[in-house]
Amino acid sequence: MSRLVVVSNRVATPTESKGSAGGLAVGVFGALKDTGGVWFGWSGEIVGEGTANAGPEIVQDGAVTFATVGLSRRDYDQYYRGFSNAMLWPVFHYRNDLARYDRQEYAGYRRVNAWLAQQLLPLLKPDDVIWVHDYHLIPFAEALRLAGVKNRIGFFLHIPFPAPQVLLNVPPHDELVKSLCCYDVVGFQTESDLVAFGDYIVRQAHGTVSRDGRTVDAYGRSLRAGVYRIGVFPDDIAAQAKRFETRKDVRELKASLKDRKLIMSVDRLDYSKGIAERFRAFERLLETAPELQGAVSLVQVAPPTRADVQSYQHIRQNLEYEAGRINGRFSGLDWTPIRYLNRRYDRWVLMSLFRASQVGFVTPLRDGMNLVAKEYVAAQDPDDPGVLVLSRFAGAAAELDAALIVNPHDILDMSEALQRALTMPLEERQDRHRKMLAALRRNDLGVWRDTFLVDLRAVRPGMP
Ligand code: ADP
Ligand code: G6P
Repeated sequence: MSRLVVVSNRVATPTESKGSAGGLAVGVFGALKDTGGVWFGWSGEIVGEGTANAGPEIVQDGAVTFATVGLSRRDYDQYYRGFSNAMLWPVFHYRNDLARYDRQEYAGYRRVNAWLAQQLLPLLKPDDVIWVHDYHLIPFAEALRLAGVKNRIGFFLHIPFPAPQVLLNVPPHDELVKSLCCYDVVGFQTESDLVAFGDYIVRQAHGTVSRDGRTVDAYGRSLRAGVYRIGVFPDDIAAQAKRFETRKDVRELKASLKDRKLIMSVDRLDYSKGIAERFRAFERLLETAPELQGAVSLVQVAPPTRADVQSYQHIRQNLEYEAGRINGRFSGLDWTPIRYLNRRYDRWVLMSLFRASQVGFVTPLRDGMNLVAKEYVAAQDPDDPGVLVLSRFAGAAAELDAALIVNPHDILDMSEALQRALTMPLEERQDRHRKMLAALRRNDLGVWRDTFLVDLRAVRPGMP
């Protein structure tokens, strides 16, 4: 079998791969450690203040070779902080109001993609299968093709693909989609992402798309597109969640709750996650059901991310304000309604906290998939499971329709769902959990990886 080479901006190196916050790193690591191969990308380091980058550093860990590069301050600012996270991320999450375009940053984005492709070249073998991930690297295949690479190259987008009218807000939208069409296979999280991509191809690029959306002809190339829903390994999560129940942090949390009910939320501190709306729904619950004051706590774990992008500084300030306000309003001497924790936890500790809680509260305003929702379900005790309250705007809602599905813009809807979850009879909880666990098993992380790679290996290698 040909070797797998994974390329992504964020690489979870061996020491941190089990604890990385971010669905891409968790998902890719889970998939790669079974098959083995190479994982190439940014080390997370900024090397010096100038314009020089640092070439690959190679670390072998079991069957996986990690090859990471450092970025200069200028490249980090233009490619990562600028075009990727201040333009593509907000627009792809339908937040044009937060997007900021700068032509030089876009030039930096393309330059870094080309440089990264050059760094990968010496590591490539002729029959490697190359799998590129996420919005930072849309032009990567085009750069490899220009350098003469003939291998099969696939791309998976972990975040939503926006409707064409929304994508038009990105000034170089046409160049980006053209670059995307240099891949042999392009994968999306949900059917609606695939449809949006097909719409763009037909309406804006004047290309053609087959009835099922899977064969795309545009910009003089033919490629495959498809839906590959990222998943988790539910049985591993369940086993580890159980095993870690006796860990100190988990025991301490349980003891501090003194039999109070627990609602758990875990996200990167991102405006796409709907955390402020969630806090307000919890506040509404305490208002409308005063008997719950002192009887239930919301634990929100939210490690800061992209802290040097302005919109992330604003959301952080806003959440501190909201958590402080709500806690000031309702706290008692021995009870705090919202415990708001800006830090990362060991992955298995989080899974045990999920298992210890009565409700998983996952309400993004927009999310490609949302692995936390899947992890919450997987971590439950099937005999006494917690209830998942899930936003309809998470990609996961398509599969986890036995959750209590809410609209995160409707605060009252969310607070009513919380109340229903907290009082749901055991039989209904078990029934919903059984259905959701079956969905997770049908489409686990291995299925995601294998179906994508089967499709990629089946195409004729792309030509420049
Ligand atoms: P995103 O990819 O946008 O961050 P996901 O929900 O798809 O959202 O993936 C987040 C992943 O990061 C999950 O696997 C989750 O368990 C992990 N994670 C989130 N927050 C933390 C944290 N505080 N500590 C450790 N892991 C975290
Ligand atoms: C999401 C994105 C990933 C990204 C991760 C963490 O999961 O889809 O591409 O790596 O967030 O974000 P960061 O900016 O820290 O890499």
